Amino acid sequence: MGRLDGKVALISGGARGMGESEARLFAQEGAAVVIGDILDEAGEAVAAYIANAGGRCYYTHLDVREESDWQAAVAAAVSRFGMLNVLVNNAGIGSSSSPIHEEPVEVWDRTMDVNVKGVFLGAKTAIPAMRQAGGGSIINISSQLGIVAVPYNGAAYQTSKGAVRIFTKAAALQYAGDGIRVNSVHPGPVVTEMTRAGRDDPERYAMMLSRIPMGRYGEPDEVAHAVLYLASDESSFVTGSEVVVDGGWTAQ
Ligand SMILES: NC(=O)c1ccc[n+]([C@@H]2O[C@H](COP(=O)([O-])OP(=O)(O)OC[C@H]3O[C@@H](n4cnc5c(N)ncnc54)[C@H](O)[C@@H]3O)[C@@H](O)[C@H]2O)c1
Repeated sequence: MGRLDGKVALISGGARGMGESEARLFAQEGAAVVIGDILDEAGEAVAAYIANAGGRCYYTHLDVREESDWQAAVAAAVSRFGMLNVLVNNAGIGSSSSPIHEEPVEVWDRTMDVNVKGVFLGAKTAIPAMRQAGGGSIINISSQLGIVAVPYNGAAYQTSKGAVRIFTKAAALQYAGDGIRVNSVHPGPVVTEMTRAGRDDPERYAMMLSRIPMGRYGEPDEVAHAVLYLASDESSFVTGSEVVVDGGWTAQ
C-alpha cells in the first residue's frame, strides 16, 4: 500500500533538486506524477527513470510564468491519468545578493515572475481540476527566508518567498470549503544546484553552517518527506500551515 495510491500529482521544477526527489518519492508511494520544467532533457530523464522503476510519470515542458503551459500541464494530468489531486509548486530561482540600491529591476521582476506569479498561475490552473476531483492538496515551496530575513541574500528572493507564505494562507481560506488544502513548506539550506556556488565557496559555506543549528545542509529527500505528508490524506486536517524543514534555522 502506497501513501499516495490513487492520486495524481503535478510537480513544477521536477527535473532536478527537490522537485526530482518529490517526483521519485511520490511515484514510489503509488501516485501518477506529471513533472513540468524548462530543463526538457533532464525532465525527460527523470520521467524515464521513474517509469523504468515501475512508476507512472510523464514529463511536460512547463515555464511556470506562462499560463498556457500550466493549462497544458493540467490537461496532461487529466487526459493521461484521469484527474488531478496534488500540485507541488516547487519551481523557483535564487536572486542576486546585490544590496537593494544596486538591484537591477530586471532581476527583481524575474524573481517575482518565477517565484510568485508561477505559484499563483499553478494554483489558478489546478484548482478547477481539483474541484472536479472533489478536493486536493496544494503544496507551495517557500523557504526559511520566507519567515525570517538575512542581510547577505537578495531581498527579491526573500520577498518572493514571503509572498508565497501568505498566498498559501489566502488560498487555504478561499478553498477550505472545497476540500482543497493549501500549505507551505519552508526548507532551510539544502544540497541542490541552487546552493552549489555557496557550498563551493569555503568562506560562505562555513558562514552558512555556523547559522544552521544542526550544523549541516539538508538533503532533498528530507524535504520531500514533508511534502509527501502534506500531499497524502495523513494531513487531512492540515491547511494554511507552514511546515519548517530547516535544521533549526528559524528556531533562533
Ligand atoms: N536549495 C535550497 O537551499 C532551498 C532552500 C529553501 C527553498 N528552496 C526552494 O526550493 C525549490 C526547489 O529548489 P532546488 O533547491 O531544488 O533548486 P534547483 O535549482 O535544483 O531546482 C529548481 C528547478 O526549478 C526549475 N525552474 C526554474 N525556473 C523555472 C521556470 N520558469 N519554469 C519551470 N521550472 C523552472 C529549474 O529548471 C529546476 O529544475 C525552489 O522554489 C527554491 O527556491 C531551496
